[in-house]
Amino acid sequence: MKFIRFGLVIMAAVLITFGLGGMAVAFHDGGVADCAGCHTMHNSQDGTEVTTSPGGHLTKGGDPSSTCLTCHAGYGQRTDDGSGYGSGGDFYWITKTYSWSGHGGPSLGDSHGHNVIAEDFDLFADGTLTTAPGGSYPASELSCGSCHDPHGAKGNPLLLYGPEKPEFTAAAPILKSPGRRTVYTSSRGNPVDDNEHTAFGSGMSQWCANCHTDFLLGDQMHPVDEGLGTTIAENYNEYVATDDLTGNQATAYWEFVPFETNQALADLNVNSTVGPTSSSKVMCLSCHRAHASAFPDAGRWDFTATLLVADSHPQAGDTGLGVDDEKNSYYGRKGEFTAEQRSLCNKCHQQD
Ligand code: HEC
Ligand code: HEC
Ligand code: HEC
Ligand code: HEC
Ligand code: HEC
Ligand code: HEC
Repeated sequence: MKFIRFGLVIMAAVLITFGLGGMAVAFHDGGVADCAGCHTMHNSQDGTEVTTSPGGHLTKGGDPSSTCLTCHAGYGQRTDDGSGYGSGGDFYWITKTYSWSGHGGPSLGDSHGHNVIAEDFDLFADGTLTTAPGGSYPASELSCGSCHDPHGAKGNPLLLYGPEKPEFTAAAPILKSPGRRTVYTSSRGNPVDDNEHTAFGSGMSQWCANCHTDFLLGDQMHPVDEGLGTTIAENYNEYVATDDLTGNQATAYWEFVPFETNQALADLNVNSTVGPTSSSKVMCLSCHRAHASAFPDAGRWDFTATLLVADSHPQAGDTGLGVDDEKNSYYGRKGEFTAEQRSLCNKCHQQD
C-alpha cells in the first residue's frame, strides 16, 4: 500500500516538474516561491484533483516534508535506490537496515541520518532517538522545514534558517552548493566529486549546534570550528590513500572529507581542488552528511570499519541489501580504495 502511494507521488512529481516548465527553473528564487508549487486552495483544478494526499495548511503533500519531496524526490533528495549523490545525502538510506553474521551490526536505517517525517515517501520518525543528541529539538517534529525555510529565509544559502527561526540562535552557514540535482546517471556521472562539491565558508558547526548544543561546547568532544594547524593541513595535502602520501595542496581536496575555508560567499568556488591551509577549519560536515548516508551516524564513510573495502557495510551478503547499495554507499567510488585503505580520519591524522 505504502509503495503504491509512493509510486503515485513520484508520478505526480514528474507531472509537476515537467508541467511547471520554465517557471520551475527558478522556483524558490532566493525568496518566497509561487504559492501553488506547494499549496492547493481547493485540491481541484480543471475539475481534477491536484494531489491524492493533501495535508494540513492546504499543502500538496500529506505532511510538510512530503510537500517538498513531490519535487525533490525526483531531484535526488529521496530516491528509491540510493542514487542521490548529493553533498547533503539521500534520505533513501534511513529506510535501509543491514545485518550480517560475524561481528558488528546491525546498521540501523534510523541511525543513517535525520529521520525527516514524510509519510507519502515512507520516511518516519527515529525509533531510537527522541530528541537531538546534545540538545532538545524533538525527533517527532523533524522535517525539511526544521532546517530549510519553505518561505524563503531572506536569501540565505540553500534557504537554511538563521535566527529568524525562534529555536535558532546561530546565523545561517556561509556556503555555496553545486545545486539540487543530485541523481547519479551513467551519462552525467557524479553530481558531486573532488572538483564539484559544496564549498564551505564558515559557520556550519555553530549552525548544527542550534539543535546539538552540547556537541559544540561540551568537554570530551572532537574539536570543531578550529583551525587545522600546520601539521594537520600538511597531512591532508599529502594524503592520497593509506599507502600513498604523494599528494600536494593544488589537488588535495576530497569531497569525502571537506573543511571550511573562511572565505566570503562571493569567493567560494565549488570547483576548487585546493587542499586546506593551517587556518582552514574542521567542522561537523568534515565527518557527517547533513541529511543521511549509508552508514551509522550519517558518517561520510563507515566509522565502524577498520578496512573500508572489507569491513564497510552495506556490502555483498548483507541482509537488507538493495541492488546498487554497495556501489552507491561511497557514491560509486569504493573501487578507488585499495584493500589496505583505512578510516578516512587519516586524511587529517595519518594514524594508519
Ligand atoms: C516550497 C514550498 C512552499 C511554498 C512555495 C509556499 N509555502 Fe506556505 N507552507 C509550506 C509548508 C510546508 C507549510 C507548512 C509548515 C508546517 O506545518 O511546518 C506552509 C504553511 C503556510 C501557512 C500556514 C503556516 C504559517 O507559516 O503561517 C501559510 C499561511 C502559508 N504557508 C502561505 C503561503 C503563501 C501565501 C505562499 C506564496 C506566497 C506560500 N505559502 C508558499 C510550503 C510552502
Ligand atoms: C514545485 C516544485 C518544488 C517544491 C514543491 C519544492 N521545491 Fe525546492 N526547488 C525547486 C526548484 C525548481 C529548485 C531550483 C531553483 C530554485 O532554487 O528556485 C529548488 C531548489 C531548492 C533548494 C536549493 C538547492 C539549490 O539548487 O541550490 C532547496 C534547499 C530547496 N529547494 C528546498 C525545498 C524545501 C525545503 C521544500 C519544501 C518546503 C521545497 N524545496 C519544495 C522546486 C521545488
Ligand atoms: C532542527 C534541529 C537540527 C539541526 C539544525 C541539526 N540536527 Fe542533527 N538531529 C536532530 C534530531 C531531532 C536528531 C534525532 C532524530 C534523528 O536522528 O532523526 C538528530 C540526529 C543527528 C544525528 C544522529 C543520527 C542518528 O540517528 O544516529 C547526527 C549524526 C546529526 N544529527 C548530525 C547533525 C549535523 C552534522 C548537523 C548540521 C549539519 C545537524 N545534525 C543539524 C536535529 C537537528
Ligand atoms: C538537519 C537539517 C536538514 C534537514 C532536516 C534537511 N536538510 Fe537539506 N540541507 C541541509 C544542509 C546543511 C545542506 C547543505 C549540505 C551540504 O552542502 O553538504 C542541505 C542541502 C540540501 C539541498 C542541496 C543538495 C544537496 O544534497 O546538498 C537540497 C535540495 C535540500 N537540502 C533539500 C532538502 C529537503 C527536500 C529536505 C527534506 C526531505 C531536507 N533538505 C532536509 C540541512 C537539512
Ligand atoms: C572528527 C569527525 C567528527 C566531527 C568533526 C563531528 N562528528 Fe559527530 N560523530 C562522529 C563519530 C565518529 C560519531 C559516532 C559516535 C562517537 O564516536 O561518539 C559521531 C556521532 C554523532 C552523533 C550521534 C550521537 C548519538 O548519540 O547517536 C551526533 C548527533 C553528531 N555526531 C553530531 C555532530 C555535530 C553536531 C558535530 C559538529 C558540532 C559533529 N558531530 C562533529 C564524528 C564526528
Ligand atoms: C578535517 C580534518 C580532521 C578530520 C577528518 C578528523 N580530525 Fe581529529 N582533529 C582535527 C584537528 C584540527 C584536531 C585538533 C588538533 C590539535 O589541537 O592539535 C583534531 C584532534 C583530534 C583528537 C585529539 C582530541 C584531543 O582533545 O586531544 C582525536 C582523538 C581525533 N582528532 C580523532 C579523530 C577521529 C577518530 C577522526 C575520524 C572519526 C578524526 N579525528 C577526523 C582534525 C580532523
